[in-house]
Amino acid sequence: MTLIFIILFFSHLIGISQGQLKVGFYIKKCPNVESIVSRVVNEAAASIQNTAPVLLRLHFHDCFVQGCDGSILIDNGDSAERHAFGHQGVGGFDVIEKAKAELEAVCPGVVSCADIVALAARDAILLANGPFYNVETGRRDGVVSNVSLARNMPEVDDSIQQLKDKFREKGLSEKDLVVLSAAHTIGTTACFFMTNRLYKFSPNGGSDPSINPNFLPELKATCPENGANTVRLSMDRGSGETFDSQILQNIRSGSAVLRSDATLYNDETTRRVVDSYFGILSPLLGPSFEADFANAMVKMGRIGVLTGSQGTIRRVCAAFN
Ligand code: HEM
Repeated sequence: MTLIFIILFFSHLIGISQGQLKVGFYIKKCPNVESIVSRVVNEAAASIQNTAPVLLRLHFHDCFVQGCDGSILIDNGDSAERHAFGHQGVGGFDVIEKAKAELEAVCPGVVSCADIVALAARDAILLANGPFYNVETGRRDGVVSNVSLARNMPEVDDSIQQLKDKFREKGLSEKDLVVLSAAHTIGTTACFFMTNRLYKFSPNGGSDPSINPNFLPELKATCPENGANTVRLSMDRGSGETFDSQILQNIRSGSAVLRSDATLYNDETTRRVVDSYFGILSPLLGPSFEADFANAMVKMGRIGVLTGSQGTIRRVCAAFN
């Protein structure tokens, strides 16, 4: 009996020190939070085609700088984190702000912007026919936004070791790196991010030799050497609007678009993770990409969170109170 009490006591203490994220955190204080966020996301998606990928990416970029604390949403001048080079092309701010305004109207000062970002990412995945998962909530908003803090975002031309290290620093495994990179099953990239891979592949220049020779001409035609680098192309060849495992097949066949995705197949450990979804037992008895992705999203959503009395609840997501 005493032993059970001691175990319960210490696990409670550990729970406190790790923070209090939990599914249904707002159930009493703001019961409709999830339906409001989901409606706002769905309305946005009905009028703006790339809403789902943009919101999914926003959550990743929020979590990788100072944790999932809504710091990327702050818009207080040139030194704001959101202007970092590593955040190029990140958007979805208006959708989060709209949801926040609606939530402030019904339960002022209760729901954090960081939680809205996490919920919106889940709803975005669903919109693209991806898996549903329960989102833990209870994050608080950060009080710091600084462009220099976003220096170390994973980059498209990072080596596999750099990518692994950057994920490990956030508590994410090599498997998480593969599974979360497969978020590129939806959305587009600007040709800007393809230049090195197509025309300046180090150390000898030219194109990345791992690109399938049948795919290379297509990529070069879409992103010509001196063409506009704002032209966009699907990151998941043939299936860029639907959440599925096609991106992993593309990585296997040399048809990955981003270099960071392709490089996952040049390393033994990450290659094994990619291949694990296409074993002889798949899809019935092998690991489920959808389930693993959902788990990895929950894990990503825990990075460096502020909980309890830490941080704040912003009134407006783009500004400090
Ligand atoms: C492994 C490191 C990663 C790198 C180097 C990387 C890099 C990129 C790049 C260069 C783009 C194109 C941006 C643009 O042109 O606007 C992009 C788009 C995207 N990324 Fe990643 N990414 C990584 C991981 C992730 C993760 C972990 C997620 C989410 C869980 C994610 C979700 C997305 C989505 C959904 C898009 C499409 C955005 C759109 O269509 O506007 N990425 N990523």
